[in-house]
Amino acid sequence: MKRILSGIQPSGRPHLGNYLGAMRQHIEMQENFECYLFIADLHALTTVKDPKLMHDQTYDLATSYLALGLDPKKTVFFKQSDLSEHAELCWILDCMVKIPFLERAHAWKDAKQKGNKDVSVGLFNYPILQAADILLYEPDLVPVGQDQKQHIEMTRDIATTFNTTFGETFKLPEAYIKEEVAVVPGTDGQKMSKSYGNTIEIFAPEKELKKQVMGIITDSIPLEDPKDPKSCNVFKLYKLIASKEDTQELANKYMAGGFGYGDAKKTLLTKILEYFAEAREKYEEIYQKKDFVYGVIEEGNKKAKETSSKTLEKVKKKIGYIR
Ligand code: ADP
Ligand code: TRP
Repeated sequence: MKRILSGIQPSGRPHLGNYLGAMRQHIEMQENFECYLFIADLHALTTVKDPKLMHDQTYDLATSYLALGLDPKKTVFFKQSDLSEHAELCWILDCMVKIPFLERAHAWKDAKQKGNKDVSVGLFNYPILQAADILLYEPDLVPVGQDQKQHIEMTRDIATTFNTTFGETFKLPEAYIKEEVAVVPGTDGQKMSKSYGNTIEIFAPEKELKKQVMGIITDSIPLEDPKDPKSCNVFKLYKLIASKEDTQELANKYMAGGFGYGDAKKTLLTKILEYFAEAREKYEEIYQKKDFVYGVIEEGNKKAKETSSKTLEKVKKKIGYIR
């Protein structure tokens, strides 16, 4: 069976972009792949500096995955900071990578372009930690959104450098990116992202969710006029969660005229609530079961450690740390 691995930072509540671009694939792939999935809380420390937030967002992300259908019997679900192997391999890989290679990373370039002088060494080093995360588990595929493509390519380069220096050690992973959801648009039409404040959060209370959906930016074509569904953010999101028939029906309403963007937004909100109804209910239920949630992570940590410690041992032998 082929293996997948992916991680998500506990840096805010999961949104439609996270779900459609990554989480939905993680859950679907449980059926046909050996799955490793983790909460990337070491990475989250680059932005989250509040202990309560770190804890709460981690618990929230774990609950969200379980509510969305992650099955702990099928997926090894663990927490990055609980496994010392990640930071350990990161250091080893740090010593393989030259500074100009890291300066090419999008996140670093963006931060510099924005004139942000406060960038931590951790943010600069982010791609190397991600390479360690991936290489420790020797996955075939890494299911992610388009924004992570560069990180997977860098991982392949870092693995190749190590393999060239010390002999064949790491397996080269491939990104798995689903084209139609590679970049899910946010309420302002840019890529949906926590850092742009343009998200629709799938477990937000109904009132908040409504506010987010009603806030989607549209053009100002009057209600009575026909509209082009393909250029509308509301329609683009609807299409990603509705059936073909429902999508066609909404497209017809747009093109016929007499159907305003307010109506379209209400249709989208209803669809989101319907699509996530079961998960939203389960979320409330699972959130109360602290022992269960922590138990899943503890069990996942043990299984992940079996795999990652073996890889690290192999690496240490290659380097000459152990015989
Ligand atoms: P954010 O940009 O909101 O901070 P993360 O970096 O935590 O999101 O992303 C977690 C996962 O969700 C990654 O695999 C990422 O590629 C995916 N993802 C995030 N936003 C989107 C989006 N708008 N479209 C598609 N995939 C996305
Ligand atoms: N950088 C990823 C993100 O922001 C999270 C991540 C960390 C990850 N380590 C990973 C994703 C390893 C895939 C594989 O979304």
